[in-house]
Amino acid sequence: MGKTYDVKNLSLVKAGVKRIEWARRAMPVVRSIEDRFRRERPLKGVRIGACLHVTTETANLMRALAAGGADVRLCASNPLSTQDDVAAALVKEFGVPVFAIRGEDRKTYYSHLRSALGHNPQITMDDGADLVSELHRRDDGRVILGGTEETTTGVIRLRSMAQKGVLKFPVISVNDADTKHLFDNRYGTGQSTLDGIIRSTNTLIAGQTIVICGYGWCGRGVAERARGMGAHVMVVEVDAVRALQAVMDGFRVAPIGKAALVGDVFITVTGDINVIRREHFLKMKDGVILANSGHFNVEIDIPGLEKLSRSTQTLRDNVVEYVLRNGKRVVLLGEGRLVNLAAAEGHPAMVMDMSFANQALSAEYLTQHGRRLKRQVYPVPKEIDEAIARLKLKTMGVSIDRLTPEQKTYLASWEMGT
Ligand code: NAI
Repeated sequence: MGKTYDVKNLSLVKAGVKRIEWARRAMPVVRSIEDRFRRERPLKGVRIGACLHVTTETANLMRALAAGGADVRLCASNPLSTQDDVAAALVKEFGVPVFAIRGEDRKTYYSHLRSALGHNPQITMDDGADLVSELHRRDDGRVILGGTEETTTGVIRLRSMAQKGVLKFPVISVNDADTKHLFDNRYGTGQSTLDGIIRSTNTLIAGQTIVICGYGWCGRGVAERARGMGAHVMVVEVDAVRALQAVMDGFRVAPIGKAALVGDVFITVTGDINVIRREHFLKMKDGVILANSGHFNVEIDIPGLEKLSRSTQTLRDNVVEYVLRNGKRVVLLGEGRLVNLAAAEGHPAMVMDMSFANQALSAEYLTQHGRRLKRQVYPVPKEIDEAIARLKLKTMGVSIDRLTPEQKTYLASWEMGT
């Protein structure tokens, strides 16, 4: 029989509990779902395999699912994003089996994925589609009710599977909910990416030229925040509409070949591969900082950087300097993995409150309706998305207006003009 959990050190439990409780204060929507789940037990006996960043916010999601009656197991969705104290607290204080150790190697990462699937889950909960991919690789005849997916890169992978007709069960794209990507990707990644860069380097943002590759939901969040801190922001894009948005939002837009010459800090958030490559490293100024906040560590061509380098040295936690053969130095943060999780604590709880409310309610929805769904990628039902927005506003003490009957009629009609 395999291990019932695998974490770094159970004696970290106390610190973990404290931090989980701190995050909980800023997660009133998830708390209210947890309260209802405890009363109604909508997930009673449902086995859930979750592959998410093992953070304080995730711990509160796990508590909500367990309160609903789910039998949940958790592994990490990135080898460097696990908070070991949180993993210990989940196992020891909250009774959730966790398989995750910060810094685990590739082999352990995948064996942990398999452990999270060890109780034959009916529902999978992914951040990057690794669990779904693992299940599809194995093809051992399991019947899965459905899955949920947290991030843009995972949704792209799943849509490609659905299009090719190989997706074996329905998946709800949590990322596409308005109450997820408009806030989590934008404000969460926007703030925490800079947080990771600042914590690891203590660099001054003001006055530096920061190059942001990708002006999607995450990229525009990072760009706005970097500008707010006094940086000269340049945007690199491949999509004409997004590039135009960046221009009209007041940013300089240039191809990476040009931006490479002037940038002091480079941040990739594209979900794409080899966005910054060998020819770009060679053009860069001495001492530039490179960070990635996209899902996988493939956006900066690290093997290419290694080939160009004559030596490397670790300067601080999460900071490795590459000395190129041309004598210039390039600094890479967090091994090119998501810098906000590798070098900081990930998104603030206040924004994960909405993302994880979507996860919890999507799990409930799959339990009730999964059998009727096709093998496709589904959006989060509009009613869930809107309910979360209303709940969040309420917890923030913000009220809004309602349409009058006259306004409803007007907005639904075409006859009325001036
Ligand atoms: P998005 O699809 O809204 O934006 C990506 C942008 O990158 C698009 O505008 C696209 O045109 C652009 N792009 C693609 N290839 C490019 C290239 N070679 N050069 C320049 N631009 C390029 O996606 P979103 O939601 O902004 O997510 C981006 C990545 O961040 C994904 O991998 C996603 O999974 C990840 N993510 C990371 C989070 C974190 O905590 N660090 C949180 C949420 C998402």
